[in-house]
Amino acid sequence: MNTLEALLKKRLDDRTEMGLLRTLRHNDPHLIDFTSNDYLGLARSTTLAERIHEHVGPSQPNGATGSRLLSGNSPQHEAVEKKLAHLFKSESALLFGSGYNANLAVLSALPQRGDTILYDELSHASLKDGARLSLAKRLNFKHNDLHDLASKLKHAQGQVFIVVESIYSMDGDQCPLAELVDLAEKHHAIVVLDEAHSTGVVGLDGSGLAVSLGLEDRIGVRVYTFGKAMGLHGACVAGSKTLMHYIVNFSRPFIYTTAMPLQQVAAIDCAFDYLKENIQLQQVLREKISLYVKAVEGLAERTISHSAIQTLIVPGNDNIRRVAGQLQGKGYDVRPILSPTVPAGLERLRICLHTYNTGEQILGLTEELKKLSSPE
Ligand SMILES: Cc1ncc(COP(=O)(O)O)c(C=O)c1O
Repeated sequence: MNTLEALLKKRLDDRTEMGLLRTLRHNDPHLIDFTSNDYLGLARSTTLAERIHEHVGPSQPNGATGSRLLSGNSPQHEAVEKKLAHLFKSESALLFGSGYNANLAVLSALPQRGDTILYDELSHASLKDGARLSLAKRLNFKHNDLHDLASKLKHAQGQVFIVVESIYSMDGDQCPLAELVDLAEKHHAIVVLDEAHSTGVVGLDGSGLAVSLGLEDRIGVRVYTFGKAMGLHGACVAGSKTLMHYIVNFSRPFIYTTAMPLQQVAAIDCAFDYLKENIQLQQVLREKISLYVKAVEGLAERTISHSAIQTLIVPGNDNIRRVAGQLQGKGYDVRPILSPTVPAGLERLRICLHTYNTGEQILGLTEELKKLSSPE
């Protein structure tokens, strides 16, 4: 075996031994989807697909051919950015190929050496990785705990950036955003808000949490993603014109990558129009969430969430794998979230609710969860 193969194999074997080996698998179309982030069913909408197809038209280049600063820019990119800025009530918006890349772009470029990034301990990997790319000091604070944040703010050096999500991807709970913004202002800290799981599902026409609370002008940087409730792929950063000018000049994840293709730009354009015309989908989702929450009310193992992301804690990687396997055997596509993705002891089922989950499916799943909670 050559050196590289031996090195990789050893690390993979270690991982297998720890029970943490990851493998790619296909979705089983026979299982009921309680896993995907397609909360509003836009990814599976044939009407939206037809619209996108019509809107793209036949004569577009197959790719963007270069970065935005070289051959990849177009009036279509700028028109959609203008539309997104209007929706998200910001002066400006800038498209990115993914939320991961948008978060890297923001956090690698804004905080400088001598500054401090304070991030919620449950922040998504893309926010943590972005922070690691910056030269600033990084410190986490306890999840949604403003007392812990306040005490860390007292000792933080340089310009402080506070990094939070509007709805947390693993617990589905909401950031206490209004109070957090008050605290940030007291300390002249800049808030970076990731709206990945609120884009589309929260606020007027899907404009997210900050706009729904009227806080948009008090938050320095907002990131919206289109791969979840919008059913597509891609993301944008929303904020001031100066912020976008800065990113275009200083942010390597923006500068050194091929621009989004026009097909994708058109899809984003169509998806927000489609959502505006079908905004009742938000209410349908809320009703499905209420049905689920009411049905599992007594379960001690659940974490409290009013979003489409629900959880049931089953400590231990082996246990949670077994339980997820049992549920899959009963027809429910529910996946286990293992440690170290979540802290040890907080391994969980992550259950995503969708507009297209029927009441019967939801209650069927909750019955199974109750059986797990009190096995005979
Ligand atoms: C909170 C959060 N931010 C960012 C991302 C990354 O977004 P994308 O999938 O568009 O790269 C995710 C995706 O899981 C997420 O949950």
